[in-house]
Amino acid sequence: MYFKQILDERCGCASYLIASRQSHEAAIVDPSIETEQYEPLLRERGFHLRYVIDTHVHADHISGAQRLAAQHGAELCLHESARVGYEFRPLANGEELPLGQLKLRILHTPGHRPELISILVVNPPRSPEPSMVLTGDSLLVGDVGRPDFGGGDPSAQFESVSKLLRLPDWVAVFPGHFEGPCGKGMCGRPSTTIGFERLYSPLLHMDREPFVAELTNGVPARPLNMTAIEATNRGVADMAWAMLTSSPPVEEVGIDAIEFALPNAILLDVREPEEFARERVPGAVNVPQADLATRLDEIPRDRPIMTICQSGSRSLRSAQFLRQQGYENVVTVGGGTRAWRDAGRPIESTEAAAGPLRIADSEWAHAGVLTTNAIEPPVPSLPPG
Ligand SMILES: [Fe+2]
Repeated sequence: MYFKQILDERCGCASYLIASRQSHEAAIVDPSIETEQYEPLLRERGFHLRYVIDTHVHADHISGAQRLAAQHGAELCLHESARVGYEFRPLANGEELPLGQLKLRILHTPGHRPELISILVVNPPRSPEPSMVLTGDSLLVGDVGRPDFGGGDPSAQFESVSKLLRLPDWVAVFPGHFEGPCGKGMCGRPSTTIGFERLYSPLLHMDREPFVAELTNGVPARPLNMTAIEATNRGVADMAWAMLTSSPPVEEVGIDAIEFALPNAILLDVREPEEFARERVPGAVNVPQADLATRLDEIPRDRPIMTICQSGSRSLRSAQFLRQQGYENVVTVGGGTRAWRDAGRPIESTEAAAGPLRIADSEWAHAGVLTTNAIEPPVPSLPPG
């Protein structure tokens, strides 16, 4: 067999090429939208692409599955419960896709999304047992996929990972993400084993109730442009442009700049509505980063825009996305609402916002290297003499 994991540093996603060296048939799982990267891999080894499989309808990155399957005349496969607006080969739990001497055994593992499947790779000439499992966003390394990306269910996730943990210790686990917003406590490694996760994943030692509570509380914010990305992957919208694919320089300003800029500028708070209701800078307007692309028409191009979030990370990415879409006058507020509050400035809140905050700031709210600011501060000139 041939097996290759392909990591996308920008969105923290992993895609996979599995092939039979005997029959030269290949399958690609969870392809990125940059489908060109798979061409030399297929060509140089003379592989024929038979299946393109999405483990689920992704909400954090645009899938290349439809494009890749069409280019190669391959079968586009999803679990039979997937609700999408295009033709696909429906896969059932327990079904085995033949790939030369290999078998790709489908295991329905809902929780992150209702249609999510894991794929067991079996190589019968070597062993009757699977040697590896591709888990999509069910079992992640040190974590499990979050349940709030549309139709997810933390209790179903508990069942699914329990099912995966019944596999033998030696089974190698290859997840759909090694970083990024799909989990909140990923270790960062791109693979693991069932045995290691069973021993050392903190979530997998929990009973159902605390597991569900852990997945329901303290979730990171929904990813940038999630609404547009999910709709595009379901085939009900065509917004492939909604992914941040560049890092345009964005000026970072301090909280003092806010008062000078308002009311001429728009202070665009890109946090979740729940965070916005709890505390906000007076005069801010709320468009969550998840809805930015689908609500662009609410953001005027002829006024200065200042993006703000909790601490400055989401607002930077949102500002970069606006720049990518041609907005020229965009800055981001460094330190965000937290710096504003810590400086003792007035806070506005909505009275109904009570109870514990469900949204947590996460290290993995964005995948990849977080460049805080591409604009260097001016270098002070040396004193004469
Ligand atoms: Fe996902």
